[in-house]
Amino acid sequence: MDPLFTLPKAELHLHIEGTLEPELVFALARRNKLAVPFPDVESLRAAYQFDDLVSFLGLYYSCMDVLRTEEDFADLVTEYADRAAAQGVRHVEMFFDPQAHTSRGIPLDVVMAGLTLGVERARATHGMSTGLIACFLRDRPVVEAHQTLEALAPHADALLGVGLDSAEVGYPPSLFTDVFREARGLGLRVVAHAGEEGPPSYVWEALDLLGVERIDHGVRVLEDEALVRRMAVERMPLTVCPLSNVRLRVVPDVASHALPALLSAGLVATVNSDDPAYFGGYVGDNFVALSRDLGIDRDGCALLARNSFLASFIDEDRRKELL
Ligand code: HPA
Ligand code: ZN
Repeated sequence: MDPLFTLPKAELHLHIEGTLEPELVFALARRNKLAVPFPDVESLRAAYQFDDLVSFLGLYYSCMDVLRTEEDFADLVTEYADRAAAQGVRHVEMFFDPQAHTSRGIPLDVVMAGLTLGVERARATHGMSTGLIACFLRDRPVVEAHQTLEALAPHADALLGVGLDSAEVGYPPSLFTDVFREARGLGLRVVAHAGEEGPPSYVWEALDLLGVERIDHGVRVLEDEALVRRMAVERMPLTVCPLSNVRLRVVPDVASHALPALLSAGLVATVNSDDPAYFGGYVGDNFVALSRDLGIDRDGCALLARNSFLASFIDEDRRKELL
C-alpha cells in the first residue's frame, strides 16, 4: 500500500454519484431488472473518456439511472466508504444531486433514507465522520432549485449544507443568490463549484452573492490577482481535484497542474477526487499522482491533508481528534 494512503485526510469534494463503478452499474441494473446500454463492464469503463465537463456529465447522469431504491443508495455509499477508508479518509463531506433523482421519479425520501443508512454504516464500520451536501444543478431552471430546497427543508437536520454543480459556463452563481440566501436561513453551510471551466468572475459571485464558505475547484482564480489576494487574506479554502482536472481537460496533465502555484500564493488548497469512478482514482490516488508528477513531498502532502481538516465543517472536538 502506498504510504500516502495511510495519511489521515478529509475529503471535501466528492460526488457520491460519481463513485458508481462500472461493476456496480451492472450489479444494480441486474438487481433492478434494467438494461445497461453497454454490453459489459469493460466497454462501459472504456467509455469513461471525456473532452470536457459537459461530455462527462452526459454519461454521469445516464449511469445513475440504475440507482432506484434506498438500498441502492446505501450500497453506493458503502462501496465508496470502503475504498476511501483504505486510502486514509477519516471524514467526508459528500455531495449528492437531488434533482438528478427526483427528475426521474425517485422520491427525495428514498434518496435521503439510502444515503443516511450508508453514512451510518460508514461510521459503524470505519469510524468515518460524514456530512451530506445537496447540490443544485445550475443548468436546470432556477425555480427548480427553489422547489428542491423546499423539499429538502424537512430533511435539514440530516444535511450539512448545499452546493452548486453541473455544467458551469453560461450558468453564473448570481442566478442562485436567493436560493442560497434561503439555504443559509435554514442554518445550512454553503459551497459552490466555481472557476473549474468558468471565469474568475464566477468565483467573485460565489463569494459575494452566495456567501460561500469554500470554493469547489477554483483553479482559474490564478487568472485574477486581486481575487487570489482576497482569498488568501480570508483563508477561503479551495477543494482542488487534480485527476478530475486532467480527465476533463482543464489541464493537460498532473505535471502542469496549478496546485503548487495555489499553495505558493498562500491559498488553503485541499486535494479531492470529485468523481473517482470516472476520473481514474480515489483521493489517495490523487495524492500519489501529485507526489509522482509534481514532486510534492511527504511534508507537502501532510500540509494538504492538514488543510483538508482545517477547511472542513467538522465539529471542533472531532477536528482536534483528527488533526
Ligand atoms: N463539476 C460540475 N458538476 C459536477 C462535477 C464537476 O466536476 N462532477 C459531478 N457534477
Ligand atoms: Zn465536483
